[in-house]
Amino acid sequence: MSIPTPHINAKAGDFAETVLMPGDPKRSQMIAEKFLEDAVLVNDVRGVQGYTGTYKGKRVSVMASGMGQPAIGIYSYELFAFYDVKNIIRIGSCGSIDEELHLKDIVIAQAACTNGFYASQYNLPGTYAPIASYELLEKAVNEARAKGYKFKVGNILSSDTFYDDAESAMDWCKMGVLGIEMESAALYCNAARLGKNALCICTVSDSFNHPDEIMTAEERQNSLTQMIELALEIA
Ligand code: HPA
Repeated sequence: MSIPTPHINAKAGDFAETVLMPGDPKRSQMIAEKFLEDAVLVNDVRGVQGYTGTYKGKRVSVMASGMGQPAIGIYSYELFAFYDVKNIIRIGSCGSIDEELHLKDIVIAQAACTNGFYASQYNLPGTYAPIASYELLEKAVNEARAKGYKFKVGNILSSDTFYDDAESAMDWCKMGVLGIEMESAALYCNAARLGKNALCICTVSDSFNHPDEIMTAEERQNSLTQMIELALEIA
């Protein structure tokens, strides 16, 4: 396949080596406007906004993934395979199932389990374990420590259901899974298959253990800012 791709209408070289990937297109626009200098819109197909600019002199891009593994599967594949992108850092939110985690805390996803079948396409005689890039993971941990952020590193679940009839979220807790989101396993699979690097950093937006906790709009914004700055520093 050549560029533009079915879902990205950008030219060769429009994207930086590293792309930050929030789920929400509006968040992509906000990051470009508030955190990047000289940001230029490079994709707007289906309103999935992608921008390239600079952060502290480094060229960096930000593009939304949409929600769910099929969506991030498409966008990350096209960026890795056809736009020469080397690193994708997903910045998302998760529901925490680990007792020690509270709203606003940061989860750095060392690996991602899934209840979906994204990896079945590889025809492997077993179960594939999608993992983060060690290099990006180490950088993120060092940076989070240096900034004094409250964070945990470990396994997460990329679920194909947000409204789950079996209400099985807490079942994953017994295996030490920290939280639930909906994208990382597919992103990690694409990175592995294409020889690229991926990492997911999430802020806890809701807690299965502490359902009474709520965030003020200001707290939500501050925790988002922490995560965005963490991702931009390692980009
Ligand atoms: N489930 C799945 N994805 C999520 C959640 C959740 O509870 N919270 C934030 N993203």
